[in-house]
Amino acid sequence: MTTVRFDPVDSFRGELRPPADKSISHRGLLLGAFADGTSKLTRCLDAADTRSTLDAIESLGAEVTIREEGPDGLDLEISGFGLTGAAAGRIDVGNSGTLIRLLMGLLSGQPAGEWVLEGDSSIAERPMDRAADPLIELGATIACKDGSYPPVTVTGSRIEGGRVDLHLASAQVKSAILLAGLNAAGPVRVSEPALSRNHTELMLSGCGVEVVCDGLATTVSPPSQLSPLDLSVPGDISSAAFAIVAAILAPQSALLVEGVGLNPTRTGILDILELMGAGQAIERASATESGGEQAGDLEVRSSELRGVEIGGDLIPRTIDELPLLGLLGCFADGETILSDAAELRVKESDRIDGVVSGLSGLGAEIEETTDGFKVTGTGGIAGGVMDARGDHRLAMLGAVAGLVSRDGVEVTGFEASQISYPDFERDLRSLSA
Ligand code: S3P
Repeated sequence: MTTVRFDPVDSFRGELRPPADKSISHRGLLLGAFADGTSKLTRCLDAADTRSTLDAIESLGAEVTIREEGPDGLDLEISGFGLTGAAAGRIDVGNSGTLIRLLMGLLSGQPAGEWVLEGDSSIAERPMDRAADPLIELGATIACKDGSYPPVTVTGSRIEGGRVDLHLASAQVKSAILLAGLNAAGPVRVSEPALSRNHTELMLSGCGVEVVCDGLATTVSPPSQLSPLDLSVPGDISSAAFAIVAAILAPQSALLVEGVGLNPTRTGILDILELMGAGQAIERASATESGGEQAGDLEVRSSELRGVEIGGDLIPRTIDELPLLGLLGCFADGETILSDAAELRVKESDRIDGVVSGLSGLGAEIEETTDGFKVTGTGGIAGGVMDARGDHRLAMLGAVAGLVSRDGVEVTGFEASQISYPDFERDLRSLSA
């Protein structure tokens, strides 16, 4: 286990090109594998999670050629095996919930074969019945350990068209169902209680699939094949959020975040910062669009903050950035309350418990609730030791907390940041002054 110390900074300044979007990279690799022909992915994330996906698609039979491997990620070509050509076997999903759940959907409609999906000790404790149960309703044959957990065994079956109404806003579960719909006997319609990230919908449209989005419902019609992709992956707002928050909280900051994905289903953190009073400190400096995915540059400066109450539809749009709200709340004037976020308990770790114990240990006035937390702003945090608990987002939270603390923070288990952002420490140090 690696312990890394982050000392307080005088300011946070410079230019950041965040790593490529993890969700879009996973999907690009998977759809490239199930497409007919050769897909091209530019600037695919090169981190532990997406290496698991790369290895998985190779085990399933895709041929991957890495053309360039550099600081901006991987440029690669994938020669796909087609919608129904996945080779049977055992797949190691590592730490990735997105990989295991999307594979459950993609493999359930294969004409024959059996796949055993398993991963690390964190994945072994994450619920898979949320994806398995609706897939089984559509005809899938899936068995999970103790009815819910990995290893998950998927046996190729006939998937019927139909309708699924989800009670949970989860892009992984929604995507699993839409992907099962690719090999279904008729259209599959899925509705969700609040809008979650829509990368699967956009990418499937890019592969020539008929996808109709109507408010909170999405219908996919089974295509005869997937056309190959030519995709350049934008920067990940979930990774950039750590530097954005450091810039807001550190004095005299001036940060330029370049080429970050600004898909509105992902920008809840910017809305939260605006609600906290930092609207004037964040400027969208440019905008581009490719395959329906918006991206652009953001200029961020330091800002005072006020406490807020966050819940409802904002939660799925901010889900991976919510740990940062705990730290923001320590600096805000008044109370900051997070609710409707019980989903945080079933992420790579129990993130409600991880944030509350982690930040309390650094001197924060924060309490746990069943579905969130309550923080009282005291103008900052003292510092100390914070354990990442094997969770990449907690490792990065501890690091940012150190930069804006009074006495510095030692993050134990900092290596967890490799899951989504291998160069995180280097980037933070180069922006620290
Ligand atoms: C993801 C969806 C979210 C998110 C995860 C990535 C995706 O999970 O937390 O990091 O790529 O679809 P849920 O679907 O469990 O909310």
